[in-house]
Amino acid sequence: MKKNKIYLIGFMGVGKTSVSKELGKILNRLVIEIDEIVEMNSNMSISNIFSEFGEDYFRNLETEALSSIQGDTNVVVSTGGGIVTREVNVDIMKKEGIVVLLNAKPETVYNRLKDTNTRPILNNNMNIEFISDLMGKREDLYNRVKDIEIETDNKTIREVCFEIIDRLELII
Ligand code: S3P
Repeated sequence: MKKNKIYLIGFMGVGKTSVSKELGKILNRLVIEIDEIVEMNSNMSISNIFSEFGEDYFRNLETEALSSIQGDTNVVVSTGGGIVTREVNVDIMKKEGIVVLLNAKPETVYNRLKDTNTRPILNNNMNIEFISDLMGKREDLYNRVKDIEIETDNKTIREVCFEIIDRLELII
């Protein structure tokens, strides 16, 4: 099967990491976290990559990481929220897998992330207006690549996973 990967995409704080871990357990699939590969390859945290080298440099590492797992099969891939901002990433995901978009309201994202400081893009912009604005800017990019879309507001991680599985069964 060519399209054997499940990619989770969506804005920061929608639950990609937690959902991918649980989905991997339920489906007995290995889980790959693109941000983790970036951090391992560069031996730096995402925050330090942004502060020392800037976003473009991070985006190059992100594309490298996404490309590097093309040989892996039957994996669940959790991506960073900005993965859709590069066309090359969109092409890879479309070619290699089923793309699941997780959504949440700006208020939900804010409540989940307000006490964290690991997302450089939000560090000086941790407010609902900025989150809502950036979500709006990325909306079309997410929608263009998604095969399935799931709302995560007020749902448990497992509820989201079983909804994904139900929807996957309809299209695989
Ligand atoms: C980013 C999202 C982050 C991380 C980086 C940039 C973004 O990942 O890749 O801070 O541009 O939306 P998460 O979506 O896992 O927080």
